[in-house]
Amino acid sequence: MSMENKNCSHEHQGVRGLPDTVAFSPDGRALRILDQTKLPGETVYLDLTEPGEIYEAIKSLRVRGAPAIGVAAAIGLYCAALRFGETDTDRFIAKLRETADYLNSSRPTAVNLSWALNTMTEAVDPALSVEDNLARLRAKAEELRDADIAACRAIGEYGLTLLCDGAGILTHCNAGHLATTRYGTALAPIHVGRERGMNFRVFCDETRPLLQGARLSAYELCANGVNTTVICDNMASQVMKNGWIDAVIVGADRIAANGDTANKIGTSGLAILAKHYGIPFYVAAPYSTIDLSTKCGDDIVIEQRSPDEVSELWYEKRMTPEGVSVYNPAFDVTPAEHITAFITDRGIVRPPYTEKLARLFGEV
Ligand code: MRU
Repeated sequence: MSMENKNCSHEHQGVRGLPDTVAFSPDGRALRILDQTKLPGETVYLDLTEPGEIYEAIKSLRVRGAPAIGVAAAIGLYCAALRFGETDTDRFIAKLRETADYLNSSRPTAVNLSWALNTMTEAVDPALSVEDNLARLRAKAEELRDADIAACRAIGEYGLTLLCDGAGILTHCNAGHLATTRYGTALAPIHVGRERGMNFRVFCDETRPLLQGARLSAYELCANGVNTTVICDNMASQVMKNGWIDAVIVGADRIAANGDTANKIGTSGLAILAKHYGIPFYVAAPYSTIDLSTKCGDDIVIEQRSPDEVSELWYEKRMTPEGVSVYNPAFDVTPAEHITAFITDRGIVRPPYTEKLARLFGEV
């Protein structure tokens, strides 16, 4: 179901001028997302209940950003389960696992998706009735949503300690409010700083091919009154050379145990540039993005997307010759050695990463 520019009942407005990215619908029976493929031109909300439509929304980036897809999948799984029509607990749980596996296959790189779905399926108990298990699933989805908001808020607070009023910041893709339940990761320090009357000059890489920087980061930063400049991806070196950048802050889709970090394609190049110019390169991410079971970046599966995103999308007519090969990886891996520090919800983490990440985010 699609609604254009309707008044939605959002309980809180975390960032000035921005509605929640993922939420329960007002009747609590559907996943409500802000359709990010329509931004910045149109504000369209979708209420989703069917596994197929939730899968499609994640795959086609209607809802996107690692933490947001985790929370969307959790709420979506619960809403789908409400409609299973099962009274037998064993069959209900089997269907729940099957649906979780299906949703998990929508995108491979962001660990938050599998992490949230596993957390949901682990919440059910075969000894309980379907009704009681549904109540548990609802509570777990709410817990994941609230934990994401709290984690992003904490990232904002910690990140702000690294920034001065008026700082020039370069960011890539959208790791903001729109990519999480609220506040964002890379953009959270900026939003929290705005609440305290600070301003920054933020440069958003446009982020080819899907333009998350030009369309989404620019939209949410402008909505919050931030001094925002969009640049093409190939201009980053120039703005750094001009002395306009005090810090690069990006998000993450999966952080391996040694600190190697998968994030939007183009991130690793920025890290190399930042090192060249002596600019700190920060990765902001919550606990749900840290995957200690993945040893290093080589073990991270990188999503490959349709060639059409490069050769046709955004153009009036096809702009590459028919038949030419197109390589379209959605993410790349930044080696840990290029990362100055991680800004996490448990504090700022500096090298050596293997020991420190294990200490902060390990089981013990
Ligand atoms: O393909 P996307 O738009 O989902 O990619 C998003 C990113 O790469 C973000 O930087 C990452 O998920 C962190 S979002 C807080």
